[in-house]
Amino acid sequence: MAILKERVFSNNEIEAWNTVLATHEKTRKKQVVDIFHSGLTTLNIQAVIIPHLQEINDTLKKKSGFKGVYVKGLEDGKSFYSMLAKRLFPIGNFIRNKSDLSYTPEPDMIHDLYGHIPFLIDIEYAEFCQKFGKTACMFINDDKKFHQFERFFWFTIEFGLIKTVDGPRAFGAGIASSIGECEFSLSSKPEVIDFDIDKIINQEFRIDQMQKRLFILESKAQLYECIPELVDKVNISEK
Ligand SMILES: [Fe+2]
Repeated sequence: MAILKERVFSNNEIEAWNTVLATHEKTRKKQVVDIFHSGLTTLNIQAVIIPHLQEINDTLKKKSGFKGVYVKGLEDGKSFYSMLAKRLFPIGNFIRNKSDLSYTPEPDMIHDLYGHIPFLIDIEYAEFCQKFGKTACMFINDDKKFHQFERFFWFTIEFGLIKTVDGPRAFGAGIASSIGECEFSLSSKPEVIDFDIDKIINQEFRIDQMQKRLFILESKAQLYECIPELVDKVNISEK
């Protein structure tokens, strides 16, 4: 992990940020779980301006002890979970090209800062992420078992859905930040399966297409309380 300084963003990048967030601001309220919106409001993350990470971190530190740090792009799994264990969250220090807003080669500011960071304001969510990072690191030398933690993260924190009194909502930051995937995940197109640890840790995922199979949580508590069971399932699994 190499921690980078804040960059001056190009006009192209600023325009991409403005355009994507302005679109999301019109629709996300009815699509994404409540803690995401609380985080956006508390951190004052808006379409009109790219926030300074230092200001985000000042609030984040007070709320949950997490800290966002700029990195080049995609952190490999082992580095990523080690960072979570230390309450650090990596943020790609660039913004996708405005000529193709639905594509980013690696996680960028829209995915990391807009998609992930607002969730980390929530104390229980932040606790879960740290605990998950620590636990995944216990399996760092066992590639198969470690990959099961990656699958679990993918189908919950990145691309999870959740049941609410108002109907299904996106829980994953990958869905919340994406152009198109939010609408797709809440449509009748994907297969939606009730949260099931066994199924999730054995479900392979693709990073290059919309998620055709998704898992839906009954509640936030179902996720936050599941780590002991997850460890048991990973330990007895042979795959
Ligand atoms: Fe992500």
